Amino acid sequence: MVASVVVEPAGVEDAPGILHLMAVVGAEGQWIANEGPAMTVEQQRRLIQGLNPQDHLLLVARAEGTVVGTLEMVRGPLPKMRHTATVGMALLPDWRGQRLGERLLRAAERWAAQVGVEKISLSVFATNLPAIRLYRRLGYVEEGRRRGQYRIAGALVDELWMAKWSPFD
Ligand SMILES: CC(C)(COP(=O)(O)OP(=O)(O)OC[C@H]1O[C@@H](n2cnc3c(N)ncnc32)[C@H](O)[C@@H]1OP(=O)(O)O)[C@@H](O)C(=O)NCCC(=O)NCCS
Repeated sequence: MVASVVVEPAGVEDAPGILHLMAVVGAEGQWIANEGPAMTVEQQRRLIQGLNPQDHLLLVARAEGTVVGTLEMVRGPLPKMRHTATVGMALLPDWRGQRLGERLLRAAERWAAQVGVEKISLSVFATNLPAIRLYRRLGYVEEGRRRGQYRIAGALVDELWMAKWSPFD
């Protein structure tokens, strides 16, 4: 049940769960560009341990100890981009459509506001209607489109860039 799901920053113990989730969602082939874990569990652990909390947020949604969702928000690395952050997120298939994505994204927006981010951007396949519905519901607007940027199952798919400016509430 979604109400009992805990949303919080990832700990090193979440490394295998995050990689498993990304492998499952990557193998679906249609939602995210990344098709599977590029990292070992040890590398993921080190990433979690070493991340700078002013620059980088990695959240998990945990149901009875299992990672069922994850969200990563990364602040612009260059001085001219410090006011921006990009976000990516994914849930295991059984946990979609229950507003858990909204919970994760709202938690990340609170972090963004705390560290002083003014603009959150994201990239989404134009065919990913559930994701686009969520982003629009939370106030993200389309600000760019790269036509045919991806080829998915043989078909060309546009990439949409969406963004939201602070205040994020
Ligand atoms: C995108 C994702 C994070 C959204 O989280 P979520 O908890 O499922 O989102 P929500 O339940 O808050 O909202 C999803 C919306 O899509 C709708 N929806 C669900 N399935 C749908 C479908 N097959 N077609 C169209 N809309 C659909 C829901 O009804 C809801 O719309 P609403 O605003 O009218 O209620 C999640 O679905 C997911 O992990 N998808 C796979 C990975 C992915 O796409 N990541 C994002 C890449 S940019």
